[in-house]
This record gives sequence, structure tokens and C-alpha cells, in this order.
Amino acid sequence: MDTMEPNQKDNSFKNEEREVCITVESLWKIFGDKGLDVLKSDLRNEPKENVLEKTGCVMAVRDVSFTVNRGEFFVIMGLSGSGKSTLIRLLLRLIEPTAGGIYVNGDDICRYNSEQLMNFRRYTTSMVFQHFGLLPHRTVLDNVAYGLKIRGIDKKERYDRAYEAIETVGLKGWEQYMPKALSGGMQQRVGIARALANDTEILFMDEPFSGLDPMIRREMQDELIELQDKVHKTILFVTHDLHEALKVGDRIVILRDGKIVQIGYPEDVISSPADDYVREFVQDASPAKVLTAGRIMDQPDALLYEWQGLKAALHILKTAKEEHVFMLGRNRKLLGIVTTKRLKNIIKNTGATLKDALNEEDLKVVSPETTLEDLFPLAAEAEYPIAVVDDERRFLGEIQISSIFENMIQDKGDTNA
Ligand SMILES: Nc1ncnc2c1ncn2[C@@H]1O[C@H](COP(=O)(O)OP(=O)(O)OP(=O)(O)O)[C@@H](O)[C@H]1O
Ligand SMILES: [Mg+2]
Repeated sequence: MDTMEPNQKDNSFKNEEREVCITVESLWKIFGDKGLDVLKSDLRNEPKENVLEKTGCVMAVRDVSFTVNRGEFFVIMGLSGSGKSTLIRLLLRLIEPTAGGIYVNGDDICRYNSEQLMNFRRYTTSMVFQHFGLLPHRTVLDNVAYGLKIRGIDKKERYDRAYEAIETVGLKGWEQYMPKALSGGMQQRVGIARALANDTEILFMDEPFSGLDPMIRREMQDELIELQDKVHKTILFVTHDLHEALKVGDRIVILRDGKIVQIGYPEDVISSPADDYVREFVQDASPAKVLTAGRIMDQPDALLYEWQGLKAALHILKTAKEEHVFMLGRNRKLLGIVTTKRLKNIIKNTGATLKDALNEEDLKVVSPETTLEDLFPLAAEAEYPIAVVDDERRFLGEIQISSIFENMIQDKGDTNA
């Protein structure tokens, strides 16, 4: 099957101009007094346990390089101890790298003096923590406004912004409550509102949903995706849950023992895991939730355009040996489907145009983001291939019903609770 290039993720992000926001270059963090010595010796290539045993140093981040684009939802994934949180702390310079470079908007943040660093943490970045990190004796409103208070923003403005952020995360009416009156999911909404109120360009989220039960967690993921559609922040999101990573991430980096084992789009990770470690992660991932219409669609052999004559259309159908073909208007707008049968019927009528050949029957149309899981019920009742269109109903491709079933068969089933 002809599919899109693996690195063409079918979401809006890919269509936007890519501008690099964060660049990480050969970043190392070796905890311990002899960290630098380890780095300078051959020990740097040895397994983490060996280094610990021989030197007492912990290899937390090893030679990590990547870039994050502006507006990208970038996921850092890996098992416990793989270096995810250390990486985030390095990016905020809460800890100093043993070696390597970190550039944000072209600035070498490792060269920042303490004032620049403070400004960077206050104005450029916000953080959402796993355990919410709320101030227990302050109201929801004051928690959300807190970052703005630190910045010295006057009361009226900070409350205005806090009210707005609280509303954005769906907590309107809860402003005067204390955090402990709220459920876990609600408390994390406060955490997110606090980050939003700061209105920083970069958002760091370290396992923000892992303290929540699965239902709430899924809801929060959905909400975060919706929110990101509105705010377009540059998000670095840490998780050790593959389903979560595949769902929310534009791109995913997988760490193992501090090293990058794979970096790519969710589909790449699923379809070609870089090694056994990733394969193990991916084993229970369900393609039904990951594969999208944009990924499995094909380009049809033939298409009709509304301005074509009836005879020409019949010729096209015959040459392509197709019984039905999509018909497009100006700007590739999808108008419908034309069948050979109907075309032959109306060709006899004087004055008939190709538009009269459009089949009235209902056409199945989906967006490129539609997952295999959601395509499946459509496939069950579709008579013709399913059309994939963009927001303006411009034709992007077609999905043969058989390819939906083929892809489902490759699905190993959903083991996610
Ligand atoms: N301050 C520190 N001193 C020494 N070792 C540390 C320190 N902080 C982290 N480490 C070690 O660095 C490694 C990476 O830890 P890190 O907290 O980054 O992992 P993680 O991927 O965030 O794990 P988790 O999923 O459990 O949060 C671990 O081996 C950890 O023990
Ligand atoms: Mg961690």
C-alpha cells in the first residue's frame, strides 16, 4: 500500500512553518563529584551500573541531542530512572549539565547569569508537576495568580488573568475554594491554569496525569489536546505511558538509561520500533488508536472534475477500470461520487452535465486525523471508498475499505485498561 512518508504526521502542526524553539546539543548529566572525570574517560560509554559501581557516579543523561519546534507537543518517554525529569531540570537549569549545550530561541541558556536565568524561568517557561504543586493554604484563584504576583503584576490584572485561565480549564465557580476541596483531576486543572495564566511560551509537564485514575486521565489528555489547539504552546511533556505519548505527542523521544533510543512521530515509533526496548514498549500499543486516515489513505487512480464532459468522464472510468470515482470541483473540493452505472443512465439525457451524474447516496467523508478505531464502524456500512478531506472539504485521498480491515488485522488488540 502506498502510504505517506512516515515523517508526515497528518495533523495541523506539520503544515505550520517550523521554527526551532529549543535545541539540545550533546547534553550530559553525570551526578557525583567525579562526573566530569567520568565524561572525559572511556567510562562514559559503559553501562550505567558499571559506572556507578566503579565511581559512585550516576549517568542520568548521556549525549542527548534534539530540537523542539515552536508550538510542538514534544513527549519525553522512558521507564522510571531513564532520565526524563533530569532532562527537564537541565532545561530549566535547576541543575547544571556536566557537558553540552541548551539553546532556547537561539540563546545559550547555560551562559545566563542569575538574573537572566530568573527571567527565563519566570517569563519564558512554566511547569506543571505530577503532584500538582499547589499551595495548600491559598485559594484556587490565588494559586493560579501566584506566578503573576511574583512577577509583580498588580492585583486587578493578575486576578483577571487568573479568572480567565480558570475558566479555560473548566473550573469557573471554584475560584474561592481551597485545593483540598478539589478532586485530583480538578487540582491538576488548577496546575494547568496556573501555567496558562503565566502565558509563557514553553510549558514543561512532568508526568502531569500519572496521579490520576485512568478515566480522568484520558479526559485530561483530551482536554489538553483541545487546549493546545487553542494556545499553541511549545510543550515538553514527560510520561512513561506509551498510550499517552502516542495520543498527545506530535513527536516522541524515548530515553533509556539516559540515552535516546528513538525519536520520531508516533506512527514511526509504532511501525518501526528502533530496538527491543522500544518494541517492548510498543508491543501492547493498538494501531487502531494510532493509525489515522491520513496515514493509510491512498491516491485514487482516477478522479473526475465537474467541468468535464460526460463522455470524457465515461472514458476515464473505463480506462481506470473503476466502477466509481470521486468528483471534485474548483480547489479540489469534494462534490461526491460518480458511478459508471449512473453515468451511463444520464448520458442519454440531452443537456445532462456531469453534476447530474453525482450519486445521491451518502458519501463517507472523514478528516485525516480520524483513527482506525473510528473508521471501522464507517467501513462496516460503506459502499464506496471513504474520502479524506480537509477542513474546507478539499479532497486529500481515499481509503479502500479493504485497507481498513487489513490494518485492523495487524492490530494486536487494545490491552490498555
Ligand atoms: N540529585 C541526584 N543525585 C544523584 N542521582 C540522581 C539525582 N537525581 C536523579 N538521579 C538519578 O538519575 C537517574 C535519572 O533519574 P530521573 O529522575 O531523571 O528519572 P525519571 O526518568 O524522571 O524517572 P521517573 O519516571 O521515576 O520519574 C536515576 O538513576 C536517578 O537515580
Ligand atoms: Mg521523573
